[in-house]
Amino acid sequence: MDQRPEFAAVLAARLSRRTVLAGVAGVGLAACARLPTQADAPSPRSAFRNVASGKGDSFTVADGYRHKVLARWGDSLFTGTPDFDTRSLVDNTWVTAQAVDAQQRQFGTNADAIQYFPLRTGRAARGLVCVNNEYFNMELVFTEHSGVGMRHEARKAWMAKNPHAVKFMQAAHGVSIVQLQRDADGWARFASPYSRRVTANTPMEIMGPARGHPLLRTNADPTGTRVFGTFANCSAGKTPWGTYLTSEENVDDYFGNGESQRKRASAAWVEADRRFPLRERSFYGWDEQDPRFDALQEPNEFFRFGWMVEIDPHDPKSVPRKRTTLGRLQHEGANTIVGRSGHVAAYMGDDEKFEYVYKFVTRDRFDPRNPAANRDLLDHGTLYAARFDADGGGEWLPLVHDEQGPLNTGAGFRDQGDVLVKTRAGADVLGATTMDRPEDVEPSPITGRIYVACTKSEDRGVTDQRDWFGRQTATGVNPANPRPDNRSGHIIEIAEDGDDVRATRFTWNVFLLAGKPSEARYLVDARDLAAGSPGPKDTYFGGYASAADQVEIHCPDNLGIDPQGRLWIVTDGDADDRPNNGCFVMETSGPQRGLVKQLASGPNGSEISGCEFTPDGRTLFLSIQHPGEGGSLAKPRSHWPDGNGLPARAAMVAIEREDGEPV
Ligand code: FEO
Ligand code: CA
Ligand code: CA
Ligand code: CA
Repeated sequence: MDQRPEFAAVLAARLSRRTVLAGVAGVGLAACARLPTQADAPSPRSAFRNVASGKGDSFTVADGYRHKVLARWGDSLFTGTPDFDTRSLVDNTWVTAQAVDAQQRQFGTNADAIQYFPLRTGRAARGLVCVNNEYFNMELVFTEHSGVGMRHEARKAWMAKNPHAVKFMQAAHGVSIVQLQRDADGWARFASPYSRRVTANTPMEIMGPARGHPLLRTNADPTGTRVFGTFANCSAGKTPWGTYLTSEENVDDYFGNGESQRKRASAAWVEADRRFPLRERSFYGWDEQDPRFDALQEPNEFFRFGWMVEIDPHDPKSVPRKRTTLGRLQHEGANTIVGRSGHVAAYMGDDEKFEYVYKFVTRDRFDPRNPAANRDLLDHGTLYAARFDADGGGEWLPLVHDEQGPLNTGAGFRDQGDVLVKTRAGADVLGATTMDRPEDVEPSPITGRIYVACTKSEDRGVTDQRDWFGRQTATGVNPANPRPDNRSGHIIEIAEDGDDVRATRFTWNVFLLAGKPSEARYLVDARDLAAGSPGPKDTYFGGYASAADQVEIHCPDNLGIDPQGRLWIVTDGDADDRPNNGCFVMETSGPQRGLVKQLASGPNGSEISGCEFTPDGRTLFLSIQHPGEGGSLAKPRSHWPDGNGLPARAAMVAIEREDGEPV
C-alpha cells in the first residue's frame, strides 16, 4: 500500500509545530520551523557532476571540490612524539615497547566515525574532532601475519615471536581526539592541550542500572564499576551538551575460549551470552597475551563491552563513562536530537543480521543553561526497540523491567540491569522487528525525520524462520525489510507521532532500496514496496521518477545530515563486481526528493565512514577506512594515501568546495 500520503500528513502536522532549539558549547542544534515544500525548497546544491566511480587506487572528489588528508594512522598528536614511518613495516622488528608508547600518542588505526566540536577560542576557526579507531588489519601492518583468517597454531607462534603485538593493537584502537585549525590552506591538525588518545586500556566508569551487576564483576574489578578501555568503536554521535558518544560494536571478535567457557559456565552466564555469543577463537589473538580477553580466565570481561561510551573531549582528563541505559549490543552509534519538550532521544542500530533498531529517551530535560545537570542525563531514561508494522505505522517497545510486564523474573530478567545486559533477549520478548543489519540511525535536526541505514543481508528471505544468534527467529521478508537476498541494503524513513521524541508510535516508509538502477526494475510507486514484492536487485529511490538520473549505490553505512537537510550516505559494500565505496548525497524533500548524487569515490579496498559537517556546512569530514583490505603487505591492493609504493593506511580527510560555498 502507498504509505506516502499518510506520512506526508504526519510530517506536515509535526513540522508546523517544530521549534528552534539552540545548542550549547557550539553544538549546532538549530531546527528550522517547517519542512521545505516543493515551492520553497532551496535550489538543490547537488548540482555537481557525479564523480567518476569504478575501481582505482585514489580518493577522488567531484569537479569543483577538493580534499585534504588531515590525519593518517600513526600521525603524532603530541609534541615530542614522531609520526609513525610506514617504511619501517618491512619486518616486525618495529613492534616494540617504544612503538606501543608512541602509538598511545599517535592517531589510531582504521578511522571510522568522526564528530566535530567547535571551540570558541580566538578568531580562527578551531575545533576538535573525535575519531573512532575501529579495528586492526594485521595483514596490512605485520609481515608474516595473514590476518583474522590465520591458522590458530601459526598465529600462536607468530604471537610468541612478537610479545608487544597485542599491546600495540590495543593502543591503536579506541578514539583519537584531535584539534584542528583552519587557515588559508584549509584545515590542519596540531598538537594541543586537547589532544587525547582513548585506547583499549583507558580507565572508564560503568554507569546506569547495570553498574555493579554480578555479570559485570571480574577478578580485577569485583565491584563491576570500573573497566579498562573501549574498542571496536564503529559509528558515533554527540550529545547536545557537547560530549562524544562512541560505540562498541564487534566486541565479540576480541575474546577467546568462549566455547570452552560456555561448557562450564553458570546458567546466568550462558543466558547472558546466548544472544551475543563469544566464540572459541578470537579474531585478533589478544587472549594470547592479555588474560582479560581469555573467557576461561575472566569470563565476565566480555559483558563489560558492547555499550555506548560518553567522552568529554573538552576535558582531556575526564574519565569516559559507559552508559548502560543505552543497552548492550553491537552498537553502531547513537545519534541524538532534542525534542520540543527538552527531552533528548538517541537513535541506535544493532549491526547484525536480524537484529533491531533502538531509541533511548532521557527521563529528564536537557538544560542548556545548566551543564552540571546534563552531565549524567544519559543515566536515566527509557530504552525502546522498534516494531515496524505493515500499515506504515510502528511502535517503540519499552525495555523496562516490570514484574507485571513481559520483562519479569519469570522471563529471565530480575532487574533493569539484567534487561540491559541482555538487551537483545529483551527485545525478542517484546516482538521487535528483525532488520537487515541496522547501522547509523540519524535524526534530521531540520525535519525531525529519522533515517535508518540497513546495510545489507543476503540471508533475508532465504528461509522464513531459522536458528540465528541464540534464538529461533523470523528471517523472511517483512514490511521494513521487503527485499529478499538484500545484498545492497536500504534506508527507512521514520517520523515520530506528534513530532515528539518521546512518542511510542511512529510512521515509516522505505526511502531507498539501494543497488544499480539499470540492473533490474527501478520502482517508482511505493505500492511496489510491500514485503516480498521487490526482487533482490530491484531498486527504489524515494519515488524519484527517472532512473537515468541516478547512480549506483550499495550498502549504506554511516549517514549524515547537512544544514540543508540533505541526507549524506557513505558506503561499505566492497565487491569485485561493484565500483569502490563512496560518498553520496540524497535529496530528502522538494521535487528532487530521492535523487542520489556521488561526491567522492574511495581507493581500493576502502570503506568510507565518518560523514560529519562543520556547522556552517562548508567542510565535510570523512574517514577512509581500511584502504588495501583484501590484500596484504606483501601483495598490496592500495598505496593510498602516501603513494610511492608505501603501505596503505586509513586516514581522515576534509572535503570543501573550491569556491568556499557549503558542500
Ligand atoms: Fe563497523 Fe557496523 O560497521
Ligand atoms: Ca559502520
Ligand atoms: Ca552519522
Ligand atoms: Ca559496515
